[in-house]
Amino acid sequence: MQQASAKAISDAQREARTRAYAMPLSQFHVGNPELFRTDTLWPYFERLRKEEPVHWCSTSPVGNYWSVTKYNDIVQVETRPEIFSSDLRLGGIMLRDVDARYEWPSFIAMDDPGHAEQRGAVQPLFTPPELVKMAALIRERSASVLDNLPRNETFNWVERVSIELTTQMLATLFDFPWDERRKLTRWSDVATALPKSGIYANEEQRQAELAECGTTFARLFAERAKAPVKSDLISLMAHSQATRGMDRENLLGNLILLIVGGNDTTRNSMSGSVLALNENPEQYDKLRANPALIASFVPEVIRWQTPLAHMRRTATQDSELGGKTIRKGERVVMWYVSGNRDEEVIEDADRFIIDRRSAHNHLSFGFGIHRCVGLRVAEMQLRIIWEEIMKRFTRIEVVGEPKRVYSSFVKGYEVLPVRISN
Ligand code: HEM
Repeated sequence: MQQASAKAISDAQREARTRAYAMPLSQFHVGNPELFRTDTLWPYFERLRKEEPVHWCSTSPVGNYWSVTKYNDIVQVETRPEIFSSDLRLGGIMLRDVDARYEWPSFIAMDDPGHAEQRGAVQPLFTPPELVKMAALIRERSASVLDNLPRNETFNWVERVSIELTTQMLATLFDFPWDERRKLTRWSDVATALPKSGIYANEEQRQAELAECGTTFARLFAERAKAPVKSDLISLMAHSQATRGMDRENLLGNLILLIVGGNDTTRNSMSGSVLALNENPEQYDKLRANPALIASFVPEVIRWQTPLAHMRRTATQDSELGGKTIRKGERVVMWYVSGNRDEEVIEDADRFIIDRRSAHNHLSFGFGIHRCVGLRVAEMQLRIIWEEIMKRFTRIEVVGEPKRVYSSFVKGYEVLPVRISN
């Protein structure tokens, strides 16, 4: 990375640390998207883990909430769904309440038994035999994207590689019309972006684009329901007993969930992998010397990046957590991004170490009944892309500041300027 920008980063980090340690804990609002855009979140979470691991925020413009910041406390919340609900009607799974009247229901924002039934419908696609079938196609498509990258010229890795490959992966999973695959990315962005993000002009535009998404998927669903079952997500849902009779709203909610679930997360892991290696050049050298380390490098990147910074639950009864009393109806935010840096569970948690012994020991995919259903696809996509990168390029160099997403939910990048010189 360029020296001037490295210095600017460390100045900003130093100032953030001073601010975080000077501020009374009662004023902490760690869900402020600005902390994520500027990558200054770390000292705030570090302080909460040390001083008040379960913290009540009453200064947020989007309403009061509990922050759960330590690994084991997060596991506690995840494994007690009878107390900590994901139900959309109680506000859903993001810090900011969603209005159930305007959202399509999906199984990530449901409790059992409804959740388990609908999750069961898509799970067959994510089993190892299906993944093996998909791997060759994903490899071929990844190789072609890499072969067409410019040399000796700065380009945006997010746009040229991360978005393109993730979109291709999703189009493969859905068997979506290939030439229209960028629509998947657009719909995912529109579905999740905050009003201030600049992704859409106004709510009318957002609703119009999501309506187009709805019509397209409803048509594909009807076509696949009439044809014999095959192993793409739309066909599986059209034929499964739990999902084939779903009303249109629920169908669209689940399809959007699968696009969103696979989109930002995988995309930002791909960008994060390049950035992490550039910030830790000795790890890049280690990987080049021994590409077999890709096996532990991939989960380490996913921990280090934590592409979804949090999930939220709503308490359905009073309970105790970390010495605090959580009351019925209160919001509980599990900060995976913080649990993944918890020194009590993960050794040298602040360091990026590509040959970590327990690299899979992280919270980026959640835990418990909602644990990510697509995690094997995501890991496979990352493994393949890095196997293909190592065959082709000596080094992908980050040559400018990354531009980060304005969100405390999706933790990722809009721009990552890179150059490949050989
Ligand atoms: C690095 C990539 C990924 C990350 C970090 C990630 C992260 C997560 C997290 C944190 C959850 C919620 C877990 C919880 O509440 O305990 C989740 C759920 C989910 N993810 Fe992923 N995900 C990734 C890739 C994917 C992919 C590729 C797909 C599918 C195409 C996918 C589909 C889903 C679905 C459908 C759920 C809901 C599961 C449920 O409610 O039972 N994810 N993911």
